Amino acid sequence: MVRRSVIKGCGAYLPARVVTNADLAAMVDTSDEWITQRTGIKSRHVAAEGELTSDLALAAAKAALAHAGVDASEVDLIVLGTATPDNTFPATAVKVQAGLGITRGAAFDVQAVCSGFIFALSVADNFIRAGQARTALVIGAETFSRILDWQDRTTCVLFGDGAGAVVLQAEEGRGDASDQGILSTHLHSDGRQHDLLYVDGGPSSTQTVGHVRMAGQEVFKHAVVNLAEVVGEALAANGLEASAIDWLIPHQANRRIIEGTGRKLKLPPEKVVITVDHHGNTSAASIPLALCEAVMDGRVKRGDMLLLEAMGGGFTWGAALVRW
Ligand code: ACO
Repeated sequence: MVRRSVIKGCGAYLPARVVTNADLAAMVDTSDEWITQRTGIKSRHVAAEGELTSDLALAAAKAALAHAGVDASEVDLIVLGTATPDNTFPATAVKVQAGLGITRGAAFDVQAVCSGFIFALSVADNFIRAGQARTALVIGAETFSRILDWQDRTTCVLFGDGAGAVVLQAEEGRGDASDQGILSTHLHSDGRQHDLLYVDGGPSSTQTVGHVRMAGQEVFKHAVVNLAEVVGEALAANGLEASAIDWLIPHQANRRIIEGTGRKLKLPPEKVVITVDHHGNTSAASIPLALCEAVMDGRVKRGDMLLLEAMGGGFTWGAALVRW
């Protein structure tokens, strides 16, 4: 018998305000046609003034606990993936903890940008499998709208705000791929490319918050290669073929990257969950938002095999195989 982290439920929160491509075309020299063709994005949500990453995260966390039927008092670990914390410190996770009215266990943030949810999920899974936690909230939450240069059409059209969360709980499994829960997680970083996608500010460098800067084509090329590799690694580690995957739930950066990964796996397009069209790239929030959408609309069913994957600034990239 082995200890597994079973995903008991999920929750999502999207700010009310929707910004369409037409809205952006009124602000910068762009068009619905260009954005749709290059990225697949049609609209994204943007947080209201005064609405913080912790507010989004708390709403998603409460929804996930309700969906899981787990009381907040059971939570003994909160791991929150974000690149847009409320403040430099304390961690946004502790504000979520306080918002839930709990004081047990540990709460901290993980910073792996767009791979943040996979990294946070892996950290929480390892805590649970090591016996250091029993019930974990894993959250991806971002307000990227706050770090966009709204004059820069090459980046401001790509991102959106939102939060998604899952509740993990320790259960016994047999130790093979028939188990329910997280079967394996696979994380990678390569800091040599840290300046291809970064924020040009921070407490130690400029003492300002800064804006997202990106060499889009370079990021695209690395994403395609790294994602194909890590997806293959996850399948091989579990002795599975791509045909075993019921749903590919990728980080939602760009429709072309997502479809490229789906094609490499020879998955029919209807097995790939796509939300980038109406969420944009919500960085660490995109996978739990996509997962939650597919769970709530009945596509993902108990027992389904899910492949989650992401790539982000750093570069960081990773994958997780999960039996829902
Ligand atoms: N509207 C209109 N024109 C634009 C816009 C815009 N919003 N942005 C750029 N352009 C112009 C450029 O200025 C350029 O014009 P030029 O030929 O006169 O110089 C032209 O469009 C082509 O620009 P490219 O950068 O070559 O366009 P590309 O086809 O590479 O698409 C994009 C850009 C969408 C950013 C793409 O490279 C991409 O998706 N890269 C991946 C980046 C990404 O997803 N990052 C998210 C974080 S990392 C991750 O999650 C994987």
